[in-house]
Order: sequence, then structure tokens, then C-alpha cells
Amino acid sequence: MSTRLEARNITKRFGGLEALRGVSVTAQDEILGLIGPNGAGKTTLFNIICGFLRPTSGAVIFEDRAIHTKRTHEITQSGIARTFQIVKPFSDLTVLDNVLAGLGCHIYATPRVFAEQYSTRTTIEPAREILAFTDLTKWADTLAGNLPIGLQRKLEIARALATQPRLLLLDEPAAGLTSGEADELAVLVRKLRAQGKTIIVIEHNMAFAMNLCQRIVVLAQGEIIAQGTPAQVQTDERVINAYLGH
Ligand SMILES: Nc1ncnc2c1ncn2[C@@H]1O[C@H](COP(=O)(O)OP(=O)(O)O)[C@@H](O)[C@H]1O
Ligand SMILES: [Mg+2]
Repeated sequence: MSTRLEARNITKRFGGLEALRGVSVTAQDEILGLIGPNGAGKTTLFNIICGFLRPTSGAVIFEDRAIHTKRTHEITQSGIARTFQIVKPFSDLTVLDNVLAGLGCHIYATPRVFAEQYSTRTTIEPAREILAFTDLTKWADTLAGNLPIGLQRKLEIARALATQPRLLLLDEPAAGLTSGEADELAVLVRKLRAQGKTIIVIEHNMAFAMNLCQRIVVLAQGEIIAQGTPAQVQTDERVINAYLGH
């Protein structure tokens, strides 16, 4: 089955600041990179796709349905999950419970019902499978807040996977990782793609994005300044200038 997300002509204003200006991005059955300097609007676009923010104008279409008017948990249930640039584990829960929290989204009608009932643990087996897949089994009983950053980034992905997304949004997943950890992460993302997931990766590190992504969209100051294959984007003069700050 094909998975397709289309952000159509998105503008987002915060007061007088235009964080996104007429941005259109489509991701379909691929690993799409979203790169650009700090403040370009990358995270804002993710926030709009997953319903944290409403676009000032424009539309987000996921598998032929408009989702930009839906609430965050409805968007999660429709098959979109994200990770955060600044990791947000449930610090006082164990690694296993963090993943169980993600699994709950298809089982419990509301977050409140989930909070009251998740410890019944009907979901423990799939949670353990996800921990094995992301190589976190060893830390299942560790409090998430006590993990080093590299493992917290993995846990972000594990918890997102628990919602069974077809589209996965990763916001700077390699930030703070050693180069060895970043290589491992790239292997994990490719495995997810091989399972059929569509993935959009925000990445500040150009080399990492170029190596991982099939196609790249470059944002700067709220606008798309280039898109294409890594090879095309890498040699684009506007991209080089944006990164060098001219
Ligand atoms: N909730 C918000 N309220 C006001 N300004 C915001 C908000 N979120 C982002 N911005 C601003 O929008 C611009 C784009 O931010 P962001 O999307 O986080 O950029 P990026 O992820 O590309 O670094 C920045 O100038 C940022 O300060
Ligand atoms: Mg960001």
C-alpha cells in the first residue's frame, strides 16, 4: 500500500513573523530529508503536520484526507507519528512503559482512559518486540529520564513506532549522537523504510541527510529554496549560500 502526505501551500504566521510562506511538500513511499538553517521553519512544518499547530493558510492531506483541522490524537490514530528535536520521554516512566504509552493510542479512547488502564498490560508483547527492534531491551526497566541522550533518541523512535505509524516524522534524530550512534540510527531508519514506512527526517547535519535520504527539500527563512536528489541539492548555489549564511 502506498503512503502519501501532501502539505499544500502552507503559510504559518506567529504574530508578525512568517515562519512558513507558501510551502508545498509531498512525501510518498520514501525517506525524504528536510534540511535548512536554524529558524528555517522545519519544526513548524512538523508541528502543523501532526496537529500541534494550525496553519494560517494551506492544507495537509494524508492519504486523500485533509488532516489540518484534526486533533493531535486523531492524527496519530490515522497513522502519523513524530519524534521531538528536544527529546520528550515520560521521564518518570520506565523505557517499557514509555513504549506502552505509545501502543495505547489504538486501544484507549482518550488519554485519560489510557492513564487509568494501561497498566493492565495487554500490550506487553508488542512493546517488547519494539524494544527488541530498536535495541532497547536491556534498558526496559530503566527510568527514561536516566538514559543518556543517544538512548533517549532511540526511545523517542520506539515510542513513535508503538503507535504503528505509516508516516514517521523524525526531528533531528541524530542531534547529540556520536558518529557511531548516527550510523546505527541510519540503519534503523532504512529498516523502517524497508518495512514500507514513509519517513520525513529533519536534519541539520547535511552529510547525514545526504547519505540517508532519497530526496531532499531545503527550507530557508520559511521558503523552499531547492529540492531534488542529494547530489542535485548539494551543488545548488542557493543551498550553499544559505548554509554559509550569505
Ligand atoms: N510557537 C511559536 N511561537 C512563536 N514563534 C515561533 C514558534 N515556533 C517557532 N517559531 C519561530 O518560527 C521560526 C521557525 O522556527 P522552527 O520551525 O523551529 O525552525 P527550525 O526547526 O527550522 O529551526 C523561528 O523564527 C522561530 O523562532
Ligand atoms: Mg527545529
